[in-house]
Amino acid sequence: MKITFAKPEIPSKGIVVVTVNVGNKLSSSAKTLDVKTGGALSRAIGASRFEGKKAQTLNIVAPERTKLDLIMIVGLGKPTDITNIEMQNLGGRIYAATKQGKNGAVSIVLDTVAGSKMKSNEMAAEIGYGAKLRSYSFNKYKTQIKADQKVAIKAVKITCDNFASARKVFDKLSKIADGVFFTRDLVSEPPNILYPETLAKEAKTLEKLGIKVQILGESQMRKMGMGALLGVGQGSIRESKLVVMQWNGGSKSKSKSSQPIAFVGKGVTFDTGGISIKPSAGMEDMKWDMGGSAVVIGLMKALAGRKANVNAVGVVGLVENMPDGNAQRPGDIVTSMSGQTIEVLNTDAEGRLVLADALYYTNDKFKPKFMVNLATLTGAIIVSLGSHHAGLFSNNDQLSDRLTQAGLDVEERLWRLPISDDYDKMIDSQVADMQNIGGRGAGSITAAQFLHRFVGKTPWAHLDIAGVTWSKSDKPTIPKGGTAFGVRLLDKLVENYYEG
Ligand code: BES
Ligand code: MN
Ligand code: ZN
Repeated sequence: MKITFAKPEIPSKGIVVVTVNVGNKLSSSAKTLDVKTGGALSRAIGASRFEGKKAQTLNIVAPERTKLDLIMIVGLGKPTDITNIEMQNLGGRIYAATKQGKNGAVSIVLDTVAGSKMKSNEMAAEIGYGAKLRSYSFNKYKTQIKADQKVAIKAVKITCDNFASARKVFDKLSKIADGVFFTRDLVSEPPNILYPETLAKEAKTLEKLGIKVQILGESQMRKMGMGALLGVGQGSIRESKLVVMQWNGGSKSKSKSSQPIAFVGKGVTFDTGGISIKPSAGMEDMKWDMGGSAVVIGLMKALAGRKANVNAVGVVGLVENMPDGNAQRPGDIVTSMSGQTIEVLNTDAEGRLVLADALYYTNDKFKPKFMVNLATLTGAIIVSLGSHHAGLFSNNDQLSDRLTQAGLDVEERLWRLPISDDYDKMIDSQVADMQNIGGRGAGSITAAQFLHRFVGKTPWAHLDIAGVTWSKSDKPTIPKGGTAFGVRLLDKLVENYYEG
């Protein structure tokens, strides 16, 4: 589907979308169209509960005196409701409501609203971005798609003053959407197709954007002493991999300012639980247990795509957690790259074992300004926060506050939970330096404490994204399925605080 920008004009065919503010203040284009249709818009508004509030819409089908298929009136709310994120949501909603329009064309006609901070061209870019984000679908494995499931519209045209600048802003946002789409594709792939080696190959395709991509196999990881990560993968016939991605778009000096920032992802391409096997009902969801790694890979794509002025490293630990004659047993003690030993009491608490070595490696090798890791780490975070916030754990208030703000900016919300010495004690082991599970309570926190033991003094944050990686329902800019939660958030973190 194409998204184009053009000068203000009310089309004579297809679907036209016009805006109205709260109190039913018609935009100037809406007024023009009202006159053209002999007052169809005012009459329709008068006959309904529509008030021009944000997220309200009103449809006039096949209005008289025109050849239009549909006039869709959308509410913008108060001028102060016109924000970047609200415009993205509006674009997503318009896309979803019009995608079955048979004549193939949708025009969104925008005017600047008095009292709003955003000009019509800025609104246009965000609406286009939202429409693009919502247009994502994953149907590569469907050999037949029913006619009524196919998207009918071929193009969305957005008209506004200064449309060339709208297009320019959109083109940049579009690069972020490309990263989001890559992540969504990766989490949607089935686990027989996507496993450590093939996921690493997907990451390798980022080289064409100027990212340096290095793939380490088991023998290299063994040499480095990554016993925690390797233990998880040892029951799988698929070789474990560690992928290191570097985007050097920032300062090239040898000073502190060129120190990279780092993102680390859990990439369990399928989590059966291992010998501590999971119940079979719902186990198919564990194909997206590589969600953290997919976000890191999609984020690198977004940063390189928009040529972000930053040095960023992405590291993902890729393993498959299987039960097998060679699988790790409950009770095994493994030695991590850091030298610390771990008693594996539950082979289903595997993500933290993978991240322990990935985090330690990243810190040791790159000495980053900070590390943010993402992982579908615990079922307990779904109990605490459901699917409206991801869990945030950090040893650094500034990093934590910045992440929280970036999350609010893009509506990928985070909620901070505590870490402390008391929780840390819960993972002390009788026979090794630590055990990989805590007691009964605070399952998400003890998982975070475990990771904390591998990050040294580096500012670090852990995002537990188990509840937000997959959505069972459509959202304005997120069709149900893989959400790519984290890509836009971390791209915004970089843009707000670490570029230039
Ligand atoms: N991948 C799971 C966590 C998960 C659960 C993600 C549901 C998404 C949806 C993780 O590896 C896991 O199994 N965690 C265990 C930890 C427990 C054994 C301490 C859990 O949450 O039950
Ligand atoms: Mn598990
Ligand atoms: Zn897992």
